[in-house]
Amino acid sequence: MAEAQILDGKSLAAGIRASLAKRVARLKRERGITPGIAVLLVGDDPASQIYVRNKAKAAAEAGFLPREVKLPASASETEVLRTVEDFNNDDAIHGFLVQLPLPPQVDALRVIDAVDPAKDADGFHVFNAGLVASGRGGVVPATPLGCMALIRLARREMAGLEAVVIGRSNSVGKPTAQLLLRENCTVTIAHSRSKDLASIARRADILVAAVGKGELVRGEWIKPGATVIDVGINRIDLGGGKSKIVGDVAYDEAVKVAGAITPVPGGVGPMTIACLLQNTLMLCCSRLGIDLPGE
Ligand code: GUN
Repeated sequence: MAEAQILDGKSLAAGIRASLAKRVARLKRERGITPGIAVLLVGDDPASQIYVRNKAKAAAEAGFLPREVKLPASASETEVLRTVEDFNNDDAIHGFLVQLPLPPQVDALRVIDAVDPAKDADGFHVFNAGLVASGRGGVVPATPLGCMALIRLARREMAGLEAVVIGRSNSVGKPTAQLLLRENCTVTIAHSRSKDLASIARRADILVAAVGKGELVRGEWIKPGATVIDVGINRIDLGGGKSKIVGDVAYDEAVKVAGAITPVPGGVGPMTIACLLQNTLMLCCSRLGIDLPGE
């Protein structure tokens, strides 16, 4: 069995960000517009703080105007909704997101519903979800966009392939399944309540794991030669104050069987940020009524 191709999300994402930087510079030069991206962080969840910091850093490096608003964990739903409304009304902000999870007193659905769909960088608003599900455009969530770009590195043609997505979230599982369907794959959505996940997974030419369970997918779950996309980011406690990050796939086993596989970290994670910036530039251009500028 040949060695698996390692799908390097870090370098693919760096290429996308470099391309975006050129397009943003051109927009600035030719139209005097700097695309603005805002992130609202509520509370002090350590993982969310890291995500938000990385998003703001990548945005600034690509020439976007980043804005970060932080509210305390005690913030009321009204305060959160007020900030969303401020972002909706701010002409300098072309796309934004509210970092999830939100504290328990804040209803995440009510907050997502309040986001102007024309500024919905995450593509989480039900209007965009509906457009994407119907194949009528809309903002595609960043992680599924990133997954598809990684799959394309290994599979130029996907028509007729068996794709299995483990996970049914609105942010990853469902939209990824829809994008695979659009590529004419035969798509199965499996989840934590599916019977015999292993045998479902073993059918997959393309396997996307997005369940949030560390190393759930074992080497023997993988069809030889399959393309494996690992969306999981799970912190495992090693004791003695030490921990490590693992995906939803047992990488060391899977890499021996798969035809292509994403590492964790350095696979899907960096792609999510690059695709979020891509969505924001796209929203900025639609607001201006122009096509995406070339490099
Ligand atoms: N929390 C973890 N991932 C994400 C994401 O992609 N978007 C938002 N808004 N929150 C998240």
